[in-house]
Amino acid sequence: MLEQTLAIVKPDAVRKKFTGAILARYEKEGFRIRAVKMRHLSKAEAEGFYAVHRERPFFRSLVDFMVSGPVVLVVLEKEGAILAHRTLMGATDPAKAEKDTLRAHFGESIECNAVHGSDSAETARFEIPYFFPTVELVG
Ligand code: CMP
Repeated sequence: MLEQTLAIVKPDAVRKKFTGAILARYEKEGFRIRAVKMRHLSKAEAEGFYAVHRERPFFRSLVDFMVSGPVVLVVLEKEGAILAHRTLMGATDPAKAEKDTLRAHFGESIECNAVHGSDSAETARFEIPYFFPTVELVG
């Protein structure tokens, strides 16, 4: 099924100038970039985005990290995009991520793990419009 998923190049990866390499990898793996923008998230935006994690011990630290610098927000499209992107990212902890995945290449820790991706169709339905109104899907 043709699907869309939300990807975020996180502040650690933007800071280290990995944005281009990550976007190039998406195109190489057959994803179509439907929308892309750079933003410096507010605390409220980061808290709302990660609201499902608000009871987790890492929540405050995660929010502080996500507002520590600009992020690149991307809508990717491809057959089975959600699972394909999760596979391409690798495990949450870069130390455990499979070889040649984005987190293995570009992540530095379980928090500063370079990229985010929607983890299910339901999550994607929340995450894409959270950052992109329909009119911004232009690709
Ligand atoms: P992400 O896929 O964006 O979803 C939640 C984020 O919380 C995760 O990537 C990590 O950046 C961060 N995080 C920090 N600590 C943990 C942890 N112990 N387990 C899972 N996620 C964590």
